[in-house]
Amino acid sequence: MKKPSTKFETICVKENMPVDGSDSHVLPIHATSAFTYENLEDSIDVFTGQKSGYVYSRFGNPTIASVEKKLAQLETIDIENEGACIMTGSGMSAISTLSMSLLESGDAILTQYNLYGGTTEVFKKILSKYGISVIFIDLEDKVAIEKSLEEHQNIKLIYFESPSNPTLNCLDISGIAEIAKKYNVLSAIDNTFCTSYLQRPFNFGIDFVVYSTTKYLNGHGNSIAGAIISKDENYRKTIWTTMKLLGTSCNAFDAWLLHNGLKTLTVRMDKHCSNAMTIAQFLESQPNVLKVNYPGLKSNKYHGVASQHMNQYGAMLSFEIEGGLEKAKGFMNKTQLCSITATLGNVDTLLLHPVTASHMNIDKEIREANGIKDGLIRISVGIENVDDLIEDIKLGLT
Ligand SMILES: Cc1ncc(COP(=O)(O)O)c(C=O)c1O
Repeated sequence: MKKPSTKFETICVKENMPVDGSDSHVLPIHATSAFTYENLEDSIDVFTGQKSGYVYSRFGNPTIASVEKKLAQLETIDIENEGACIMTGSGMSAISTLSMSLLESGDAILTQYNLYGGTTEVFKKILSKYGISVIFIDLEDKVAIEKSLEEHQNIKLIYFESPSNPTLNCLDISGIAEIAKKYNVLSAIDNTFCTSYLQRPFNFGIDFVVYSTTKYLNGHGNSIAGAIISKDENYRKTIWTTMKLLGTSCNAFDAWLLHNGLKTLTVRMDKHCSNAMTIAQFLESQPNVLKVNYPGLKSNKYHGVASQHMNQYGAMLSFEIEGGLEKAKGFMNKTQLCSITATLGNVDTLLLHPVTASHMNIDKEIREANGIKDGLIRISVGIENVDDLIEDIKLGLT
């Protein structure tokens, strides 16, 4: 069936049709652990899958299903497939559920060094216990990718992030997808930093997209959830079964909060991105700023590759202040408007000092080799008035 040609912003805002036969205009929260049936025959039909319906909220829930449908629509807006989305209780549970759905003992994942720390840990500390190995390489090096795939015939999945945290390195998504196809392995990307509004990896040949919807998709910092979106609907059953049995399901309230946030995704992201560009350009002009990592800057090493995959450059940036730890501390403490917090993607501007927070357990040598110096500060740029943000940043830099 041909998909309607509704535009991205419209899908974000439009309420899905009521799923419960009610006249509610706005999606209701189905705060129920289980569902009931008129009679035993009805119950048997739903349990055996002969009739559609809900059983138990760990398996599925109308509020969550409605949000899953919207996320899948947004992600697949340019392709023919309808895709399949399964929501989970967090970004981490999306990543672990997807891995456990696709991989078995003896298989390997090919990935990059600079992943979100929790993802590196789940691969190294949890999946390894079940016989799934992880091979870390520089995914910017396509020769190295092919070499690894030739050497390790057990690689089943290439998993990556682009842009990566906290130095905003961007990868050639299309190139990686092409290699994955050539070697008949699956590919998955964590698209949390971009959202489907800025970057739609299915257009570049990627098989799976995962999200921490906790970040930009929700945008307000009041819900923890995740999502796995598969381009091929046939994976729905496999991923759903893993989610249901591991109990990594989302809850209806967090899904509902995400649904609320999605309505303003496009206006938020436009403002996030324009503020980030202004701040990146401002920082680049400052004498005590050694480096600005933002793919939107023409001077940035990743500007070209980012331009091929993203339609705007996002709202995450990092910069290195001259004077190392002392000056970084000074910046974090002097700013008034920006909050110091470990998350990202909220409407307000958030600061993180990677060396003393997200990357504190990584050896200094490895950190520094990857550009994570003592003076590096990450900014998740919000949607405040940009002049106010610049004034605050000036305060920090003094
Ligand atoms: C890129 C990325 N992926 C995944 C996660 C994990 O998401 P959650 O905290 O929702 O489990 C995070 C968390 O910060 C993240 O930044």
